[in-house]
Amino acid sequence: MKTAITELFGIERPIIQGGMHYVGFAELAAAVSNAGGLGIITGLTQKTPELLAREIARCRAMTDKPFGVNLTFLPTFSAPPYPEYISAIREGGVKIVETAGRSPEQYMPALKAAGIKVIHKCTSVRHSLKAEQIGCDAVSVDGFECGGHPGEDDMPNMILLPRAAEELSIPFVASGGMADGRSLVAALALGAAGINMGTRFIATKEAPVHENVKKAIVAATELDTRLVMRALRNTERVLTNKGVERLIEIEREKGRALKIDDILDEVAGVYPKVMIDGNMDAGAWSCGMVVGLINDIPTVKELIDRTIAEAERLIRRRLVGLLDGVPEEKQEKKARAVA
Ligand SMILES: Cc1cc2nc3c(=O)[nH]c(=O)nc-3n(C[C@H](O)[C@H](O)[C@H](O)COP(=O)(O)O)c2cc1C
Repeated sequence: MKTAITELFGIERPIIQGGMHYVGFAELAAAVSNAGGLGIITGLTQKTPELLAREIARCRAMTDKPFGVNLTFLPTFSAPPYPEYISAIREGGVKIVETAGRSPEQYMPALKAAGIKVIHKCTSVRHSLKAEQIGCDAVSVDGFECGGHPGEDDMPNMILLPRAAEELSIPFVASGGMADGRSLVAALALGAAGINMGTRFIATKEAPVHENVKKAIVAATELDTRLVMRALRNTERVLTNKGVERLIEIEREKGRALKIDDILDEVAGVYPKVMIDGNMDAGAWSCGMVVGLINDIPTVKELIDRTIAEAERLIRRRLVGLLDGVPEEKQEKKARAVA
């Protein structure tokens, strides 16, 4: 399946694994790239640029396919040393960077000078247009369904993706709520050139996280995520648990007067407790509504292969069949006869 995204990044399948804190290590990124998608190492999970350089080298030892690094520009007072992280990416020979959070504008000259292709993840048409204007090569359009930070517009992908298609000249992938071949076909129909998946990739054999996390994702339904930190304009979609219930209770009490310090116990330092120790009640960790569609823990290759196979089946049999006027129940029979 060739799209503007497979061509841009030199990959075989239009499927990207979004950067994920304490999940996007070399093992997962390499597995995704080896299966024909684009794996992404999460830059800031590596506490120093030197550690990121080591992680890039580990990933390169596991795959000879293209992979990328995520750089999340956080709204913090003490910013991580981004120029040094970019040097580690450049020196590691990585040619694709997924940016997220704040605009990457300030860092675009350094990234472009290193011949790096930039895909910026954002949650609105206006931010997508800004990304295009500052020279990003592609955008990951993240709808309200997404795990992590959906922004403050609450715009679901059914509207956001076609709006992005109307406005953008650069290619974009659909992010948020993507799980399988059905999502891929829908994303393509809405104008995207591929999909970006986060939550779905956590429930895979290769994802280097505690088994409790994978089991929690399989057990959860689409009703089990919550939005937190809205009062701070830093909304995050997370899987509910005892820590999140505590957090929401504090949010209720404080209302608009909420300060980050009020909820620090439930949001700071949570990722290692959840992802490494498997303590599922530690606090808030990003998770998408797509958990409702995740019922197994396949290998990354099984997941990507079946996503492409399902998409192909849907396009060739169901959609073309509908145009040919073949009733749906007969399409399967006809397809089996041809096979
Ligand atoms: C556990 C987890 C951690 C994440 N951490 C980051 C991150 O550090 N930086 C980032 O840009 N996006 C992060 N994301 C967002 C994903 O890259 C992706 O955009 C999102 O998960 C897509 O929505 P989905 O979960 O419905 O597939 C994270 C998502 C999850 C589930």
